[in-house]
Amino acid sequence: MPLIQLSEVSKYPEKEVSLKGWVFNVRSSGSIYFLQFRDGSGRIQAVISKKEVDSKTWQACGKLTMESSIELFGTVHEDKRSAYGFELEVKDLKIIQLAEEYPIAKKEHGPEFLMDNRHLWLRSARQAAILKVRDEVVWQLRKFFRERGFVLTDSPVLTPTSCEGTTTLFSTDYFDTKAYLAQTGQLYIEATAAALGRVYDFGPTFRAEKSKTRRHLTEFWMLDAEAAFVDFEENLKIQEELVSQVVQNILIERREELKLLERDTKILEKVAVPFPRLTYDEAVTRLIKAGLKMKRGDDFGGDEETVLSKQFDKPVFITHFPTKIKAFYMKPDPADPELSLGDDLLAPEGFGEIIGGSERIDDLKLLEKRLKEFKLPRKDFEWYLDLRRYGSFPHSGFGLGLERLVRWICGLEHIRETIPFPRLINRLKP
Ligand code: 4AD
Ligand code: MG
Repeated sequence: MPLIQLSEVSKYPEKEVSLKGWVFNVRSSGSIYFLQFRDGSGRIQAVISKKEVDSKTWQACGKLTMESSIELFGTVHEDKRSAYGFELEVKDLKIIQLAEEYPIAKKEHGPEFLMDNRHLWLRSARQAAILKVRDEVVWQLRKFFRERGFVLTDSPVLTPTSCEGTTTLFSTDYFDTKAYLAQTGQLYIEATAAALGRVYDFGPTFRAEKSKTRRHLTEFWMLDAEAAFVDFEENLKIQEELVSQVVQNILIERREELKLLERDTKILEKVAVPFPRLTYDEAVTRLIKAGLKMKRGDDFGGDEETVLSKQFDKPVFITHFPTKIKAFYMKPDPADPELSLGDDLLAPEGFGEIIGGSERIDDLKLLEKRLKEFKLPRKDFEWYLDLRRYGSFPHSGFGLGLERLVRWICGLEHIRETIPFPRLINRLKP
Protein backbone atom coordinates (compact mmCIF):
# COMPACT_ATOMS: atom_id res chain seq x y z
CA MET A 1 0.00 0.00 0.00
CA PRO A 2 1.82 3.20 -1.06
CA LEU A 3 1.93 6.15 1.34
CA ILE A 4 0.60 9.05 -0.75
CA GLN A 5 0.02 12.79 -0.45
CA LEU A 6 -3.57 13.97 -0.87
CA SER A 7 -2.42 16.43 -3.53
CA GLU A 8 -1.90 13.40 -5.81
CA VAL A 9 -5.01 11.45 -4.77
CA SER A 10 -6.56 11.71 -8.25
CA LYS A 11 -3.89 9.33 -9.52
CA TYR A 12 -5.24 6.57 -7.26
CA PRO A 13 -8.94 5.95 -8.03
CA GLU A 14 -10.08 2.55 -6.70
CA LYS A 15 -6.55 1.94 -5.40
CA GLU A 16 -5.47 1.03 -1.89
CA VAL A 17 -3.31 3.70 -0.28
CA SER A 18 -2.08 4.88 3.08
CA LEU A 19 -2.21 8.48 4.33
CA LYS A 20 -0.58 10.23 7.28
CA GLY A 21 -2.02 13.40 8.72
CA TRP A 22 -4.49 14.93 11.16
CA VAL A 23 -8.16 14.61 12.03
CA PHE A 24 -9.91 17.96 11.80
CA ASN A 25 -13.35 16.68 12.59
CA VAL A 26 -15.01 13.43 13.51
CA ARG A 27 -18.67 12.53 13.65
CA SER A 28 -20.46 9.22 14.04
CA SER A 29 -23.83 7.90 12.99
CA GLY A 30 -23.91 4.68 15.03
CA SER A 31 -22.32 2.20 12.67
CA ILE A 32 -20.24 4.70 10.64
CA TYR A 33 -17.57 7.27 11.51
CA PHE A 34 -16.97 10.21 9.17
CA LEU A 35 -13.46 11.53 9.64
CA GLN A 36 -12.45 14.84 8.13
CA PHE A 37 -8.80 14.33 7.45
CA ARG A 38 -5.99 16.56 6.19
CA ASP A 39 -2.35 15.86 5.44
CA GLY A 40 -1.18 19.39 4.67
CA SER A 41 -1.36 18.90 0.92
CA GLY A 42 -5.13 18.34 0.84
CA ARG A 43 -8.29 17.27 2.61
CA ILE A 44 -10.56 14.26 2.32
CA GLN A 45 -13.47 12.57 4.08
CA ALA A 46 -12.60 9.11 5.39
CA VAL A 47 -15.46 6.72 6.05
CA ILE A 48 -15.15 3.91 8.56
CA SER A 49 -17.98 1.44 8.80
CA LYS A 50 -18.19 -0.94 11.71
CA LYS A 51 -18.70 -4.00 9.56
CA GLU A 52 -15.60 -3.32 7.41
CA VAL A 53 -12.98 -2.97 10.18
CA ASP A 54 -11.83 -5.07 13.10
CA SER A 55 -12.95 -4.25 16.61
CA LYS A 56 -9.59 -2.72 17.60
CA THR A 57 -9.81 -0.17 14.76
CA TRP A 58 -13.44 0.54 15.58
CA GLN A 59 -12.54 1.25 19.21
CA ALA A 60 -9.67 3.51 18.16
CA CYS A 61 -12.14 5.58 16.15
CA GLY A 62 -14.20 6.13 19.27
CA LYS A 63 -11.23 7.74 20.98
CA LEU A 64 -10.25 10.13 18.19
CA THR A 65 -10.04 13.79 19.09
CA MET A 66 -9.66 16.86 16.93
CA GLU A 67 -6.08 17.28 15.59
CA SER A 68 -4.98 13.78 16.56
CA SER A 69 -2.30 12.53 14.20
CA ILE A 70 -3.12 9.24 12.50
CA GLU A 71 -2.27 6.89 9.66
CA LEU A 72 -5.10 5.64 7.47
CA PHE A 73 -5.21 2.64 5.18
CA GLY A 74 -8.01 2.26 2.66
CA THR A 75 -9.41 2.52 -0.85
CA VAL A 76 -9.79 5.80 -2.76
CA HIS A 77 -13.17 6.35 -4.40
CA GLU A 78 -14.08 9.15 -6.72
CA ASP A 79 -17.01 11.09 -5.25
CA LYS A 80 -18.55 13.85 -7.30
CA ARG A 81 -20.74 15.05 -4.42
CA SER A 82 -17.80 15.62 -2.08
CA ALA A 83 -16.14 19.03 -1.99
CA TYR A 84 -12.80 17.24 -2.27
CA GLY A 85 -13.82 15.03 -5.23
CA PHE A 86 -12.68 11.84 -3.47
CA GLU A 87 -13.47 9.78 -0.42
CA LEU A 88 -11.45 7.17 1.46
CA GLU A 89 -13.06 3.88 2.46
CA VAL A 90 -11.01 2.97 5.50
CA LYS A 91 -9.74 -0.57 6.14
CA ASP A 92 -7.44 0.20 9.02
CA LEU A 93 -6.37 3.12 11.18
CA LYS A 94 -3.36 3.72 13.41
CA ILE A 95 -3.25 6.51 16.00
CA ILE A 96 0.13 8.25 16.03
CA GLN A 97 -0.75 10.67 18.84
CA LEU A 98 -4.08 11.25 20.48
CA ALA A 99 -4.39 15.04 20.73
CA GLU A 100 -5.32 16.76 23.98
CA GLU A 101 -8.44 18.92 23.92
CA TYR A 102 -7.77 21.33 21.06
CA PRO A 103 -8.00 24.99 22.12
CA ILE A 104 -9.34 26.24 18.79
CA ALA A 105 -12.90 25.04 18.60
CA LYS A 106 -15.31 25.50 15.76
CA LYS A 107 -16.97 28.45 17.50
CA GLU A 108 -15.90 32.01 16.76
CA HIS A 109 -12.75 33.18 18.52
CA GLY A 110 -11.52 36.75 18.92
CA PRO A 111 -8.41 37.88 17.03
CA GLU A 112 -6.25 38.14 20.16
CA PHE A 113 -6.98 34.53 21.10
CA LEU A 114 -6.24 33.37 17.56
CA MET A 115 -3.02 35.39 17.47
CA ASP A 116 -1.91 33.91 20.82
CA ASN A 117 -2.50 30.53 19.22
CA ARG A 118 -1.05 31.44 15.84
CA HIS A 119 1.08 28.26 15.89
CA LEU A 120 -2.17 26.23 15.89
CA TRP A 121 -4.39 28.67 13.98
CA LEU A 122 -2.17 28.13 10.92
CA ARG A 123 -3.74 24.67 10.52
CA SER A 124 -7.15 26.07 9.59
CA ALA A 125 -8.21 25.78 5.96
CA ARG A 126 -8.36 29.54 5.59
CA GLN A 127 -4.91 30.24 7.00
CA ALA A 128 -3.40 27.41 4.97
CA ALA A 129 -5.01 28.82 1.82
CA ILE A 130 -3.47 32.26 2.47
CA LEU A 131 -0.03 30.71 2.95
CA LYS A 132 -0.43 28.84 -0.34
CA VAL A 133 -1.27 32.10 -2.11
CA ARG A 134 1.76 33.74 -0.49
CA ASP A 135 4.00 30.90 -1.66
CA GLU A 136 2.67 31.23 -5.21
CA VAL A 137 3.07 35.02 -5.20
CA VAL A 138 6.74 34.62 -4.28
CA TRP A 139 7.18 32.03 -7.02
CA GLN A 140 5.54 34.30 -9.60
CA LEU A 141 7.59 37.32 -8.54
CA ARG A 142 10.81 35.36 -8.97
CA LYS A 143 9.58 34.00 -12.30
CA PHE A 144 8.91 37.50 -13.61
CA PHE A 145 12.37 38.73 -12.69
CA ARG A 146 14.09 35.65 -14.09
CA GLU A 147 12.21 36.08 -17.38
CA ARG A 148 13.24 39.73 -17.52
CA GLY A 149 16.92 39.06 -16.93
CA PHE A 150 17.07 40.43 -13.38
CA VAL A 151 19.65 38.71 -11.16
CA LEU A 152 18.91 37.99 -7.49
CA THR A 153 21.52 39.74 -5.32
CA ASP A 154 20.51 39.68 -1.68
CA SER A 155 21.34 42.52 0.63
CA PRO A 156 22.34 42.47 4.30
CA VAL A 157 19.92 42.67 7.21
CA LEU A 158 22.51 44.13 9.61
CA THR A 159 23.44 47.58 8.35
CA PRO A 160 25.28 50.66 9.64
CA THR A 161 22.74 53.29 8.47
CA SER A 162 19.14 54.11 7.70
CA CYS A 163 17.67 54.51 4.23
CA GLU A 164 14.01 55.33 4.73
CA GLY A 165 14.29 57.78 7.62
CA THR A 166 15.61 57.36 11.13
CA THR A 167 12.29 57.27 13.01
CA THR A 168 11.48 53.64 12.23
CA LEU A 169 14.90 52.08 12.79
CA PHE A 170 15.44 49.03 14.97
CA SER A 171 18.91 49.06 16.46
CA THR A 172 20.93 46.33 18.04
CA ASP A 173 24.35 46.07 19.68
CA TYR A 174 26.96 44.98 17.21
CA PHE A 175 30.10 44.21 19.22
CA ASP A 176 31.42 47.66 20.21
CA THR A 177 29.20 49.57 17.83
CA LYS A 178 25.53 49.76 16.75
CA ALA A 179 23.79 48.05 13.87
CA TYR A 180 20.39 48.73 12.39
CA LEU A 181 18.03 46.16 10.93
CA ALA A 182 17.52 46.87 7.22
CA GLN A 183 14.45 48.91 6.24
CA THR A 184 15.12 48.10 2.58
CA GLY A 185 18.00 46.66 0.57
CA GLN A 186 17.83 49.44 -1.99
CA LEU A 187 21.21 51.09 -1.44
CA TYR A 188 22.98 47.76 -1.74
CA ILE A 189 21.26 46.70 -4.92
CA GLU A 190 22.10 50.05 -6.49
CA ALA A 191 25.67 48.78 -6.17
CA THR A 192 24.92 45.33 -7.60
CA ALA A 193 23.02 47.01 -10.47
CA ALA A 194 26.34 48.56 -11.55
CA ALA A 195 27.80 45.06 -11.58
CA LEU A 196 24.92 43.16 -13.21
CA GLY A 197 22.61 45.72 -14.83
CA ARG A 198 19.23 44.48 -13.60
CA VAL A 199 18.98 43.09 -10.11
CA TYR A 200 16.59 42.41 -7.25
CA ASP A 201 16.69 41.27 -3.66
CA PHE A 202 14.04 39.63 -1.55
CA GLY A 203 14.14 39.25 2.17
CA PRO A 204 12.89 40.35 5.56
CA THR A 205 12.96 44.06 6.33
CA PHE A 206 12.18 45.85 9.56
CA ARG A 207 10.46 49.02 10.63
CA ALA A 208 9.69 50.15 14.13
CA GLU A 209 6.27 51.35 12.99
CA LYS A 210 4.59 52.94 15.98
CA SER A 211 1.22 52.84 14.29
CA LYS A 212 -1.34 50.12 14.98
CA THR A 213 -2.91 49.66 11.57
CA ARG A 214 -4.23 46.87 9.40
CA ARG A 215 -1.42 47.39 6.90
CA HIS A 216 1.74 47.68 8.98
CA LEU A 217 4.03 44.94 10.22
CA THR A 218 7.30 45.58 12.03
CA GLU A 219 8.91 42.69 10.13
CA PHE A 220 7.87 42.20 6.52
CA TRP A 221 9.30 40.83 3.30
CA MET A 222 10.34 43.27 0.66
CA LEU A 223 11.38 42.74 -2.90
CA ASP A 224 13.62 45.57 -4.09
CA ALA A 225 14.36 45.82 -7.81
CA GLU A 226 16.91 48.10 -9.45
CA ALA A 227 17.77 48.59 -13.12
CA ALA A 228 20.62 50.48 -14.77
CA PHE A 229 19.79 52.94 -17.54
CA VAL A 230 16.08 52.72 -16.78
CA ASP A 231 14.30 56.03 -16.29
CA PHE A 232 11.23 57.01 -14.30
CA GLU A 233 8.83 56.11 -17.16
CA GLU A 234 10.25 52.69 -17.82
CA ASN A 235 10.35 52.02 -14.09
CA LEU A 236 6.56 52.49 -13.92
CA LYS A 237 6.15 50.08 -16.84
CA ILE A 238 8.14 47.37 -15.09
CA GLN A 239 6.01 47.81 -11.96
CA GLU A 240 2.67 47.57 -13.75
CA GLU A 241 3.78 44.61 -15.85
CA LEU A 242 5.02 42.85 -12.73
CA VAL A 243 1.82 43.37 -10.75
CA SER A 244 -0.54 42.47 -13.59
CA GLN A 245 1.41 39.33 -14.53
CA VAL A 246 1.58 38.12 -10.94
CA VAL A 247 -2.13 38.73 -10.32
CA GLN A 248 -3.21 36.98 -13.55
CA ASN A 249 -1.06 33.96 -12.79
CA ILE A 250 -2.35 33.73 -9.22
CA LEU A 251 -5.90 33.69 -10.60
CA ILE A 252 -4.94 30.60 -12.60
CA GLU A 253 -2.69 28.82 -10.11
CA ARG A 254 -4.59 29.54 -6.88
CA ARG A 255 -8.22 29.61 -8.02
CA GLU A 256 -9.29 27.07 -5.36
CA GLU A 257 -7.66 28.99 -2.52
CA LEU A 258 -9.16 32.32 -3.60
CA LYS A 259 -12.57 30.65 -3.75
CA LEU A 260 -12.14 29.29 -0.24
CA LEU A 261 -11.20 32.82 0.89
CA GLU A 262 -14.38 34.08 -0.82
CA ARG A 263 -12.31 36.59 -2.75
CA ASP A 264 -14.27 38.49 -5.40
CA THR A 265 -11.96 37.76 -8.33
CA LYS A 266 -13.83 39.90 -10.87
CA ILE A 267 -11.86 42.94 -9.80
CA LEU A 268 -8.57 41.06 -9.99
CA GLU A 269 -9.38 39.91 -13.52
CA LYS A 270 -9.38 43.58 -14.59
CA VAL A 271 -5.80 44.08 -13.44
CA ALA A 272 -4.16 44.65 -16.82
CA VAL A 273 -1.71 47.28 -18.07
CA PRO A 274 -1.70 50.23 -18.31
CA PHE A 275 -2.55 51.35 -14.77
CA PRO A 276 -4.09 54.80 -14.25
CA ARG A 277 -1.81 57.56 -13.02
CA LEU A 278 -2.33 60.63 -10.89
CA THR A 279 0.22 63.22 -9.94
CA TYR A 280 0.45 64.06 -6.26
CA ASP A 281 -1.17 67.37 -7.10
CA GLU A 282 -4.15 65.73 -8.81
CA ALA A 283 -4.44 63.28 -5.95
CA VAL A 284 -4.58 66.08 -3.37
CA THR A 285 -7.32 67.81 -5.35
CA ARG A 286 -9.35 64.59 -5.27
CA LEU A 287 -8.74 64.13 -1.54
CA ILE A 288 -9.82 67.64 -0.66
CA LYS A 289 -12.88 67.20 -2.85
CA ALA A 290 -13.64 63.96 -0.98
CA GLY A 291 -13.68 65.96 2.26
CA LEU A 292 -10.31 65.02 3.77
CA LYS A 293 -8.67 67.62 5.95
CA MET A 294 -5.27 68.03 4.37
CA LYS A 295 -3.23 70.59 2.55
CA ARG A 296 -0.86 70.51 -0.37
CA GLY A 297 2.57 69.38 0.84
CA ASP A 298 1.26 66.87 3.39
CA ASP A 299 2.25 63.24 3.02
CA PHE A 300 -0.44 60.60 2.61
CA GLY A 301 -1.40 58.33 5.46
CA GLY A 302 -3.71 55.36 5.56
CA ASP A 303 -6.88 57.44 5.20
CA GLU A 304 -5.66 59.25 2.09
CA GLU A 305 -4.58 55.99 0.46
CA THR A 306 -7.90 54.35 1.28
CA VAL A 307 -9.97 57.17 -0.21
CA LEU A 308 -7.87 57.36 -3.38
CA SER A 309 -7.62 53.65 -4.00
CA LYS A 310 -11.38 53.24 -3.54
CA GLN A 311 -11.87 55.51 -6.54
CA PHE A 312 -10.22 52.95 -8.86
CA ASP A 313 -10.80 49.35 -9.80
CA LYS A 314 -7.19 48.88 -10.91
CA PRO A 315 -3.96 49.72 -9.10
CA VAL A 316 -3.21 53.42 -9.45
CA PHE A 317 0.15 55.22 -9.56
CA ILE A 318 0.62 58.43 -7.61
CA THR A 319 3.66 60.23 -8.99
CA HIS A 320 5.59 63.47 -8.47
CA PHE A 321 5.36 63.82 -4.69
CA PRO A 322 7.09 66.87 -3.24
CA THR A 323 10.79 66.04 -2.74
CA LYS A 324 10.46 67.36 0.85
CA ILE A 325 8.27 64.45 1.95
CA LYS A 326 10.17 61.71 0.12
CA ALA A 327 13.46 59.88 0.71
CA PHE A 328 16.84 61.56 0.13
CA TYR A 329 17.82 59.49 -2.92
CA MET A 330 14.87 60.36 -5.18
CA LYS A 331 15.73 62.29 -8.31
CA PRO A 332 14.05 65.69 -8.60
CA ASP A 333 11.97 66.29 -11.71
CA PRO A 334 14.06 68.49 -14.05
CA ALA A 335 10.81 70.28 -15.04
CA ASP A 336 10.12 71.17 -11.39
CA PRO A 337 12.87 70.32 -8.88
CA GLU A 338 10.40 70.69 -6.00
CA LEU A 339 8.84 67.42 -7.19
CA SER A 340 10.44 63.99 -7.28
CA LEU A 341 10.50 61.37 -10.03
CA GLY A 342 9.02 58.82 -7.71
CA ASP A 343 5.83 56.82 -7.43
CA ASP A 344 3.62 54.97 -5.00
CA LEU A 345 1.47 52.21 -6.45
CA LEU A 346 -1.82 51.87 -4.60
CA ALA A 347 -3.84 48.66 -4.76
CA PRO A 348 -7.54 49.35 -5.45
CA GLU A 349 -10.62 48.67 -3.28
CA GLY A 350 -9.13 50.72 -0.46
CA PHE A 351 -6.06 48.52 0.10
CA GLY A 352 -3.50 51.25 -0.52
CA GLU A 353 0.26 51.29 -1.12
CA ILE A 354 1.95 48.10 -2.28
CA ILE A 355 5.00 49.57 -4.06
CA GLY A 356 7.22 52.61 -3.63
CA GLY A 357 9.74 53.47 -6.33
CA SER A 358 11.74 56.20 -8.04
CA GLU A 359 14.49 57.22 -10.36
CA ARG A 360 17.62 57.77 -8.22
CA ILE A 361 19.88 60.79 -8.00
CA ASP A 362 22.94 59.97 -10.13
CA ASP A 363 24.72 63.31 -9.70
CA LEU A 364 27.41 63.28 -7.01
CA LYS A 365 27.08 66.94 -5.97
CA LEU A 366 23.31 66.79 -5.64
CA LEU A 367 23.44 63.57 -3.65
CA GLU A 368 25.99 65.09 -1.26
CA LYS A 369 23.69 68.06 -0.79
CA ARG A 370 20.68 65.82 -0.09
CA LEU A 371 22.60 63.79 2.51
CA LYS A 372 23.38 67.03 4.30
CA GLU A 373 19.77 68.23 4.16
CA PHE A 374 18.60 64.92 5.62
CA LYS A 375 21.35 65.08 8.31
CA LEU A 376 22.60 61.65 7.29
CA PRO A 377 26.15 60.72 8.41
CA ARG A 378 28.29 61.25 5.33
CA LYS A 379 30.98 58.75 6.36
CA ASP A 380 28.52 55.88 6.32
CA PHE A 381 27.46 56.79 2.80
CA GLU A 382 30.92 57.16 1.22
CA TRP A 383 30.58 53.78 -0.47
CA TYR A 384 27.18 54.83 -1.83
CA LEU A 385 28.66 58.06 -3.16
CA ASP A 386 31.34 55.96 -4.91
CA LEU A 387 28.58 54.69 -7.19
CA ARG A 388 28.32 58.31 -8.42
CA ARG A 389 32.11 58.65 -8.71
CA TYR A 390 32.93 55.58 -10.78
CA GLY A 391 30.76 55.43 -13.87
CA SER A 392 27.61 57.00 -12.47
CA PHE A 393 24.58 55.76 -14.33
CA PRO A 394 20.95 56.83 -14.54
CA HIS A 395 18.95 54.14 -12.73
CA SER A 396 15.60 53.45 -11.17
CA GLY A 397 14.03 50.90 -8.91
CA PHE A 398 11.24 50.10 -6.53
CA GLY A 399 10.32 48.10 -3.46
CA LEU A 400 7.29 45.86 -3.21
CA GLY A 401 5.87 44.77 0.14
CA LEU A 402 5.01 41.07 -0.14
CA GLU A 403 2.43 41.06 2.64
CA ARG A 404 0.69 44.14 1.24
CA LEU A 405 0.39 42.40 -2.13
CA VAL A 406 -0.86 39.15 -0.59
CA ARG A 407 -3.37 41.02 1.56
CA TRP A 408 -4.87 42.68 -1.49
CA ILE A 409 -4.89 39.56 -3.69
CA CYS A 410 -6.57 37.55 -0.91
CA GLY A 411 -8.87 40.46 0.01
CA LEU A 412 -7.98 40.33 3.72
CA GLU A 413 -9.14 42.71 6.40
CA HIS A 414 -5.78 42.63 8.22
CA ILE A 415 -2.16 42.13 7.16
CA ARG A 416 -1.47 39.85 10.15
CA GLU A 417 -2.90 36.85 8.28
CA THR A 418 -0.46 37.15 5.35
CA ILE A 419 2.70 35.99 7.16
CA PRO A 420 3.08 32.83 9.25
CA PHE A 421 4.21 34.61 12.42
CA PRO A 422 3.36 38.32 12.26
CA ARG A 423 5.38 40.86 14.21
CA LEU A 424 3.33 43.86 15.26
CA ILE A 425 3.85 46.80 17.60
CA ASN A 426 2.15 44.86 20.40
CA ARG A 427 3.14 41.34 19.42
CA LEU A 428 6.40 39.42 19.42
CA LYS A 429 4.88 36.05 20.34
CA PRO A 430 4.59 33.17 19.52
O1 4AD B 1 7.77 52.73 0.14
P1 4AD B 1 8.91 52.12 0.87
O2 4AD B 1 9.27 52.71 2.17
O3 4AD B 1 10.14 52.14 -0.15
C1 4AD B 1 11.41 51.76 0.12
O4 4AD B 1 11.80 51.26 1.13
C2 4AD B 1 12.33 51.88 -1.06
N1 4AD B 1 13.71 51.94 -0.58
C3 4AD B 1 12.11 50.73 -1.97
C4 4AD B 1 12.93 50.78 -3.22
O5 4AD B 1 12.79 51.75 -3.97
N2 4AD B 1 13.76 49.80 -3.45
O6 4AD B 1 8.63 50.58 1.08
C5 4AD B 1 8.38 49.74 -0.02
C6 4AD B 1 7.14 48.90 0.22
C7 4AD B 1 5.86 49.72 0.45
O7 4AD B 1 5.29 50.13 -0.74
C8 4AD B 1 5.00 48.69 1.16
O8 4AD B 1 4.41 47.80 0.24
C9 4AD B 1 6.01 47.92 1.98
O9 4AD B 1 7.28 48.13 1.40
N3 4AD B 1 6.03 48.36 3.39
C10 4AD B 1 5.45 47.69 4.39
N4 4AD B 1 4.76 46.54 4.43
C11 4AD B 1 4.31 46.12 5.62
N5 4AD B 1 4.52 46.76 6.78
C12 4AD B 1 5.21 47.92 6.80
N6 4AD B 1 5.45 48.53 7.97
C13 4AD B 1 5.72 48.43 5.57
N7 4AD B 1 6.44 49.51 5.22
C14 4AD B 1 6.62 49.45 3.89
MG1 MG C 1 6.36 54.19 0.48
